[in-house]
Amino acid sequence: MYTIKNLSKYFYDESWRSFFKNNKIVALKNLDIDFKYGDSIGVIGKNGSGKSTLLKIIGNILLADEASFSFDKNKAQTSYISGNERSFFWRLTVRENLEFFSTMYGINKRVADAQIMKIANDFNFTEFLDIKFVFLSSGFKKKISFARALLKNPDIFLFDEITNSLDFSSKNKIKELLTVFKKNQSRKILFWASHDTSEIIALCNKVIVLEKGKVARTIYKGEDDFNEKIFNQYL
Ligand SMILES: Nc1ncnc2c1ncn2[C@@H]1O[C@H](COP(=O)(O)OP(=O)(O)OP(=O)(O)O)[C@@H](O)[C@H]1O
Ligand SMILES: [Mg+2]
Repeated sequence: MYTIKNLSKYFYDESWRSFFKNNKIVALKNLDIDFKYGDSIGVIGKNGSGKSTLLKIIGNILLADEASFSFDKNKAQTSYISGNERSFFWRLTVRENLEFFSTMYGINKRVADAQIMKIANDFNFTEFLDIKFVFLSSGFKKKISFARALLKNPDIFLFDEITNSLDFSSKNKIKELLTVFKKNQSRKILFWASHDTSEIIALCNKVIVLEKGKVARTIYKGEDDFNEKIFNQYL
C-alpha cells in the first residue's frame, strides 16, 4: 500500500498586478490518498480542483511543497501523460521518437522494434511511423504519447485527460487496451483524470473527487454511488 499524507502544493503569481496582493495559489492543500497495486483510480473534479497537479507530483513532474510519502518517490517507476504532450522531438519521425525513448528506457532494439510495430498496428498509425512528429494532428500526438507510456511500462501510469479530441475508435481502443492490461497486470496502478464519466465507470475501481485541492470523497466500485449521475455532480 502506498500512502501520501498532507500533500500541499502552491503556485505563485508573479505578475506585477499581484505584487501587493497575496500571490499564493493553493493548488493542493493537506491532501491524503492511498493506493495499491491493481488499483485504477479515477480522478475527477471541476476545472482547477488540482487533478493535474496531483498526477504531476506523483509522476515526478512537479515537486510537492509539503507531503509525507510512504515510499521512495524518486525510485517509483511512473509515467505521466497529458492531453497536450510536448516532450517529443518535433523534427524527428514517430518511429525515431519511439526508438529514442525505447533506448532511454533500456529496451533492447529488437524487442523495441516489435513492440513499436504492435502498438502502431493496434492504434492504426503504421502509415505515420515515418512522418515527422511536428506534422501530426493533436489526436495522433496523443496516441504517440500513449504508445510511449506503454513502451516504458512503469508501475504507475498517470493519464491526464488523454482521450480528449481522440476519435471514437481510438478512444475505444485505449479503453479496450487498458481493460485487458488491467486484467493481466495486477502489479500496476493507473490514475485516470477525466471529465468523461463513462470512461471512469469502464476503467476504474475507485474514484477520488477533488474539490479545491482536497479529496472531498472517495467512491468505490460496487457502492451505490459509483455511477455517472453522482460523478457528474462533481464536474
Ligand atoms: N504552472 C502553474 N502556475 C500557476 N498556477 C497553476 C499552475 N498549474 C496549476 N495552477 C493552478 O493550480 C490550481 C490547480 O490546477 P490543476 O491544473 O491541477 O487543475 P485541474 O483539476 O487539472 O483542472 P482542469 O480540469 O482544468 O485540467 C489551479 O488554480 C491552477 O490555476
Ligand atoms: Mg488538468
